[in-house]
Amino acid sequence: MRILTTGGTGFIGSHTTVELQNAGFDVVIADNLSNSNEQVLDRIEKITGKRPAFIKADLSCPKECKQVFDTYKDIEGVINFAAYKAVGESVEKPIMYYQNNLGIFLNLVENMKNNGVKYFVQSSSCTVYGEPDSLPIKETSPVKKATSPYGHTKQIVEEMLSFITASTDIKAIALRYFNPIGAHESALIGELPNGVPNNLLPFVTQTAAGIRKELKVFGNDYPTPDGTCIRDYIHVVDLAKAHVVAVKRLLENKNKENLEFFNIGTGKGFSVLEIINSFEKTTGVKLPWSFAPRREGDIIQIWADTKYAEEELGWKAQETLDTMTLSSWKWQQALDK
Ligand code: UD1
Repeated sequence: MRILTTGGTGFIGSHTTVELQNAGFDVVIADNLSNSNEQVLDRIEKITGKRPAFIKADLSCPKECKQVFDTYKDIEGVINFAAYKAVGESVEKPIMYYQNNLGIFLNLVENMKNNGVKYFVQSSSCTVYGEPDSLPIKETSPVKKATSPYGHTKQIVEEMLSFITASTDIKAIALRYFNPIGAHESALIGELPNGVPNNLLPFVTQTAAGIRKELKVFGNDYPTPDGTCIRDYIHVVDLAKAHVVAVKRLLENKNKENLEFFNIGTGKGFSVLEIINSFEKTTGVKLPWSFAPRREGDIIQIWADTKYAEEELGWKAQETLDTMTLSSWKWQQALDK
């Protein structure tokens, strides 16, 4: 049974490829290596004992996307990770974001339809909910107006899927991730952002490693217990396993609708200061940090209602915050070596 992971050499894609192979699937990765490198394939092989098939392809190009499906006639399902994902950059370059993220999606579903590939798992985001009216947030909560082109592309793909799954044989699951952090316990794969990291954990580990001078904590006057923003941080390996469960659900025809949505989080919210505390406690490294003004566009707090994923998918996050922060650090240390 072969699964195509687009963006499979990236952070979440590489961890999911590992879990798919561990579960007995054959995987072909299609990636243009714009934000990753081919060494990841060696590392996946080291972890799983099996090298995934790989095609270097820019899937936003119709010809290159078709080539993937022409080469691998045995693809049964697609998990789509290939997308640009920097919120700030998307505000500056909206056209580039729409062209890439929506172009990739449309090329994929067109080729799926032409080749009789029926199962699709989409990498979506809790960003579709915007600032929640009540917490924890359920899958049935309203999708609010997007605050960035990045978030908008996630919403548009979800909407397009609802029409596409209504009129084709394609069945889909959109996994709405909360904040993925951590790294594989082998420290062979992890998050490798280009340039200065935007996201919290890579900034924390790079600061602890001396690459950055100081972590700026954005805002200390939010209406939260310690004044800093709260997020639902999820271990990337837990998240990867959710994809395996989702793809099996589709392959086994256990889905209840042609398009389903699941929150993929832990159900627990942690503040930025709690992340710093966990990091310092588990690693023994003192982190230089100070408060800075609020970052524009940040939501105050969000965490998942995980009941639906638990009951329907039979999936639940297992890792603790401390294993997340420690594994992120071990990955950073391995990188520095
Ligand atoms: C954002 C996106 C989300 C996307 C994710 C990963 C929104 C609303 N959310 O999440 O969709 O999936 O990025 O790309 O667009 N922080 C600091 N200092 C830093 C960096 C971050 O204090 O140097 C704080 C932020 O203010 C926030 C928390 O850490 O409170 C997490 O930030 P980040 O890792 O960037 O993720 P989100 O903004 O939650």
